[in-house]
Amino acid sequence: MTHPPSPAARARLGRVVISSERIAARMPELARQIVESMGDGDDDLVLVPVMTGAFIFAADLVRHMPVRMRITLATVSSYPGTATSSQGVRPLGDLPGDLSGRRVLVIDDILDSGNTLRFLRERFLAQRPARFATAVLLRKTIPAALGTPCEFVGFDIEDEFVVGYGLDFDGCYRNLPDVRVLHPEGGAP
Ligand code: IMP
Ligand code: MG
Repeated sequence: MTHPPSPAARARLGRVVISSERIAARMPELARQIVESMGDGDDDLVLVPVMTGAFIFAADLVRHMPVRMRITLATVSSYPGTATSSQGVRPLGDLPGDLSGRRVLVIDDILDSGNTLRFLRERFLAQRPARFATAVLLRKTIPAALGTPCEFVGFDIEDEFVVGYGLDFDGCYRNLPDVRVLHPEGGAP
């Protein structure tokens, strides 16, 4: 897990890790894979994008999924650097509470420590959904992330702090069309 620069530190944008073109090309593939594997059902598919980071990924993904679905946002706050699972994550506001018997897909921006997805999986499985899966745009190739169950992954990336396409540093950079490295000022090039 690479820690971001402290909010007080100045940071600068580095190289493009995943271009907007690569993201655009991957969306229909990922969407098809998800639709095929989530199974059929008339009226029971619920997508849960995790705010705020997943808002652009989810918006692009759902437009490649020509099936009936409901979309319910979940907001969680994570505290980086905590040692054990779940303790670093808490919901902000109510989580979706009507998932019993439904097919549920949680959508997040990036899989890093895995705390967020492990927390949501545990909370949502307790509601006994008919199916449960998670999708992330990015997964860091570190043991914690690779060891966290996640059914759909857009791209595997190195352990670097990245921003853009929904991902932020200190609330900023979410609007960048590409995923890029963010370096602390004075740090590595
Ligand atoms: P987790 O560590 O897998 O629980 O990831 C939690 C959250 O940390 C993600 O949803 C992101 O909001 C944030 N995060 C983790 N790595 C990065 C990064 O490289 N850039 C920006 N945000 C990140
Ligand atoms: Mg974030």
